[in-house]
Amino acid sequence: MSTYLSSETLRGLRTESGLTQAALAERIGVTDKAVSKWETGRGLPDITLIDPLAAALGCSVAELLTGEVRRNANRSANMARCKFYVCPICGNAIVATGEGLFSCCGSTMLPQEAETPEPGSAHEPHIERIENDWRISVGHPMEKQHFISFIAYVTSDSVTLKKLYPEQLEWPRLPITGPGHIYLFCNHHGLFRVKTPRLR
Ligand SMILES: [Fe+2]
Repeated sequence: MSTYLSSETLRGLRTESGLTQAALAERIGVTDKAVSKWETGRGLPDITLIDPLAAALGCSVAELLTGEVRRNANRSANMARCKFYVCPICGNAIVATGEGLFSCCGSTMLPQEAETPEPGSAHEPHIERIENDWRISVGHPMEKQHFISFIAYVTSDSVTLKKLYPEQLEWPRLPITGPGHIYLFCNHHGLFRVKTPRLR
């Protein structure tokens, strides 16, 4: 019988997290008998318990339901490996420290692979140091249909994301926090990345 939660997955996640049935039961406010039932396929947790169950087991709801657990897959990666996800409908952007599944406008947000811009192209940012800031400018159209929708500065432990808008004339200044990369996202051509100039 196919169910929304497999007893093997639940048992596997619980033993991996070092919890007894009683300890897990206490965390989510049920009896240890209930946990035992779920693990032997004699019952299923109420759907409202899925969120607290995943939290108690230290996994995501998707991992709990699919049984595809991605232990250590990028979870503790440094920010230099962060991923940008963009909604293909409204352009909403988020930055994540690892891979994930995010949705917006009823659609899955797609992880963006950064490309190196052609030297001298409209997607190559000009990065200039002004006192303790990077001043970023791009010779790219800023029209409603085609514009740079965000610029981000990523170092090993931080991300600064600056949202941009069509018709915007002023380019951002970002406080320097160390060597890293500047990312820019064009709503038509995707994500581009260049190294910050050397700091001395
Ligand atoms: Fe573009």
